[in-house]
Amino acid sequence: MNWSNPLFINSNWTSEISNREQKEVAAEQVAKEIKNGDVIGVGSGSTSFLAIHAIANRIEAEGLSILAIPTSHEVAMACARLNIPTTSLMAHKPNWAFDGADEIDANRRMIKGRGGALFAEKIVMASANKTFILVDPSKFVDRLGEKFPVPVEVDPRAIHLVETSLKRLGTEEIKLRNAIGKDGPIITEAGNLILDVRFNQIFDDFERKIKSIPGVIESGLFIGYNVEVISV
Ligand code: 5RP
Repeated sequence: MNWSNPLFINSNWTSEISNREQKEVAAEQVAKEIKNGDVIGVGSGSTSFLAIHAIANRIEAEGLSILAIPTSHEVAMACARLNIPTTSLMAHKPNWAFDGADEIDANRRMIKGRGGALFAEKIVMASANKTFILVDPSKFVDRLGEKFPVPVEVDPRAIHLVETSLKRLGTEEIKLRNAIGKDGPIITEAGNLILDVRFNQIFDDFERKIKSIPGVIESGLFIGYNVEVISV
């Protein structure tokens, strides 16, 4: 039996999707990669949301059977609405994954986590053999950190410790990310806070150095993962 609550059924992307047409082309392209029996990691953000819809269309048209591993409640809800069965990293290893990005440079180094799902996105990407990164042209940058800060997910108890340690890495600015639709800071799906951190220059070892600070759950730096870029 299915729920018939309108709140759920009519639920759409939360705001207007920027560069929608280009994102839709990338979404259609990744949907072509689906094979019957695949277990796929599903990233978060509006591009991934569009890709899930494109994949659902293929599943329906061709009677395919797949399992999705969502990286956020938002994506898990979309899968539920679209009748795409979900599983978890605990039960399955993804054959492959797809995700969006906030910034990507010429060496495929990325900043992710505008949507706050960086922790789950990273463990899914690190678990998958390969991840398709779906990006519209606005995501390409000459210098990583040019437009977006690096999100750092932090256990609330360690907020001062992490801020102090990040300053030693040479940060330009550190901001506590505040919520929209809730007073005070954003609380991630794992119950943590997010610091948005600007750097003048991002070196390859920053992902490891940030992660090594006690209290840091994860950073939105994605450097050295096995990714294939799909852009339009
Ligand atoms: C969410 C993310 C998204 O992949 C990233 O923000 C890109 O989003 P969009 O596809 O909406 O442009 O990292 O945490």
